[in-house]
Amino acid sequence: MTKSILVINGPNLNLLGTREPEIYGADTLDDIKNMMTSKASPLDLAIDFRQSNVEGEIVNWIQEARTDFDAIIINAGALTHTSVAIMDALLAVDKPTIEVHLSNIFKREEFRHHSYISAAAVGMITGFGAIGYLMAIDAVTDIVKQ
Ligand code: DQA
Repeated sequence: MTKSILVINGPNLNLLGTREPEIYGADTLDDIKNMMTSKASPLDLAIDFRQSNVEGEIVNWIQEARTDFDAIIINAGALTHTSVAIMDALLAVDKPTIEVHLSNIFKREEFRHHSYISAAAVGMITGFGAIGYLMAIDAVTDIVKQ
């Protein structure tokens, strides 16, 4: 049976490709979406790929996962380090969640070392660039097909 995965991208990730490419790489968000979709379809996973700069919209999307999705992959961008609301939403829906970051947040400024998302995630993939999103598909496949 096809499993549905909600992929959420937070603030400023719409600018990938031109945003600090030395940190975040040259791939655009559309490139990442296409890579994920290609990898997911033979695995019988349906990917719903979204981006928002608005915290409340992301909270609403996470709440949709209660009824509409089997798992969540999330790169919350800067909201990773600030958003109790996103953490609470993830804890409330209680769906397997994989946290992704393009850069290695632990190699960067101190304020990026703490993630609110991690408290609600199965695990974190950080520092592998766009490939990290594909690694998240591997991780999520194991979990939802069990
Ligand atoms: C990021 C890391 C965050 O610290 C930053 O605010 C982002 C992107 C990453 O993918 O490396 O917007 O989540």
